[in-house]
Amino acid sequence: GPLRLDVVTIFPDYLRVLDLSLIGRAHADGLLDLHVHDLRDWTHDRHRTVDDTPIGGGAGMVMKPDVWGSALDDVLAAPLPAAPASAEVAEPTKVASLPAPRRVLVIPTPSGELFTQRTAENLAGADQLVFACGRYEGIDARVAEHYASSGVEVHELSIGDYVLNGGEAAVLVMIEAIARLRPGVLGNPESIVEESHTGAGLLEYPVYTRPVAWRGLDLAATEPVLLSGDHARIDRHRRDQAVARTAVRRPDLMARLDPARLDAGDRAA
Ligand code: ADE
Repeated sequence: GPLRLDVVTIFPDYLRVLDLSLIGRAHADGLLDLHVHDLRDWTHDRHRTVDDTPIGGGAGMVMKPDVWGSALDDVLAAPLPAAPASAEVAEPTKVASLPAPRRVLVIPTPSGELFTQRTAENLAGADQLVFACGRYEGIDARVAEHYASSGVEVHELSIGDYVLNGGEAAVLVMIEAIARLRPGVLGNPESIVEESHTGAGLLEYPVYTRPVAWRGLDLAATEPVLLSGDHARIDRHRRDQAVARTAVRRPDLMARLDPARLDAGDRAA
């Protein structure tokens, strides 16, 4: 069935851009089931308090575990969207044998494991992703610990080695990377296979379109192979450019290339 996405945040308006473009369209088409929640709906006091000072002292504020616990208990128990009706799954004997849904709690934090294309591929296979957006200095660490020890799959994830003011922008990044891997969300599934960070682990080769000559940059002079019509040579040339570009821009990726996916031409380039 469709992937259910829940985002819990104190800034629900920040996530409204999800209603636009790819994600909003997929939601409208029933491929995704998106819910944005205001954390303050689960506060217990008149001031709708979500944070408190750190135990042990220090700068900033920490988000309260009791408020997060109330919110996440509810959201992790929410009904999941049914797969489109079909005679096969409507069969009572088959309903009884359905596996438990895979509900995942994602906590964006600069102290998390790195979110990569591999992470996106893994999370795209879940039934529900719940994103808990922390602000200030983060969420009381017992929240992640509690859900992990209660059998929930918990991932504390960073989108990169820089610090944002909160998890909201990181969640937009993760949802876009994950949603486009779901069947039917991306227009052209072929563009998933060829792109950077998949396949051999190389960056993409440079791409060009008409006009062939533009502002003194003439592909007939600089990229004659691309105009040759010889597709074997074009593939080899592009692959060489991908290897060269990866070596210059991402030496870290170069060092970790999968040798099984490299050919003799790659090693020569
Ligand atoms: N929250 C603040 N900085 C972050 C980062 N780099 N990744 C994920 N969540 C964050």
